[in-house]
Amino acid sequence: MSLPDPSFLLARAPVVPVVTVPSVTAGVKLARALVEGGLPLIEVTLRTPAALEAMAAIAAEVPDAVVGAGTVTRPDLVEKSIAAGARFLVSPGVTPALLEAFAEAPVPVLPGCATASEAMTLAAMGFSVLKLFPAEAVGGSNLIKSLAAPLPDLRFCPTGGIGPDNVGKYLSQPNILAVGGSWVCPNDAIAAGDWGRIVELSRAASKLYRAAFAG
Ligand code: 3PG
Repeated sequence: MSLPDPSFLLARAPVVPVVTVPSVTAGVKLARALVEGGLPLIEVTLRTPAALEAMAAIAAEVPDAVVGAGTVTRPDLVEKSIAAGARFLVSPGVTPALLEAFAEAPVPVLPGCATASEAMTLAAMGFSVLKLFPAEAVGGSNLIKSLAAPLPDLRFCPTGGIGPDNVGKYLSQPNILAVGGSWVCPNDAIAAGDWGRIVELSRAASKLYRAAFAG
């Protein structure tokens, strides 16, 4: 049986904001700003105590948001994330136990990889869109360009060290569907409640050209 395909979700926007929420209230306000700026896919990292509850609140209160869980590093987090309303799952890497849980998940998964061997292992298990992490540190857009010839069926959503200055290099690669990043929701803007700045950053990111979806 084939696994849920993340491509349809990633078609929605060139950038998946990677958000770390300090509170449920801030998470909902942040999600509203991202959606208003044109970035409906939102990866809430499971790194703060508020993350699961914030995800559930975003799913309930921001209907245009498509909320997913990031930093899914253990099998129990798969079930908890889906129960909280996650519509996709993202991990920085995988373990054998996490892979088993991912293979059973009813929502699209972007499992993390950093090498050709890891990408091949995930492809053999049926995953067709992979997160490259930490993208800039492991070779960035050059690595993904190099993987296109030997692994032509794989697509990527790289994350880690991507920002306004280098995002164009990534999105010009046809095997990159979207990128993940936190630059559209800086911690200082979240702390200050500067939602207008987040709307502006999102608006710029939402208009980025993507070779993968160019007519
Ligand atoms: C992460 O997991 O923190 C993401 O890779 C975000 O990376 P960034 O902060 O470099 O965009």
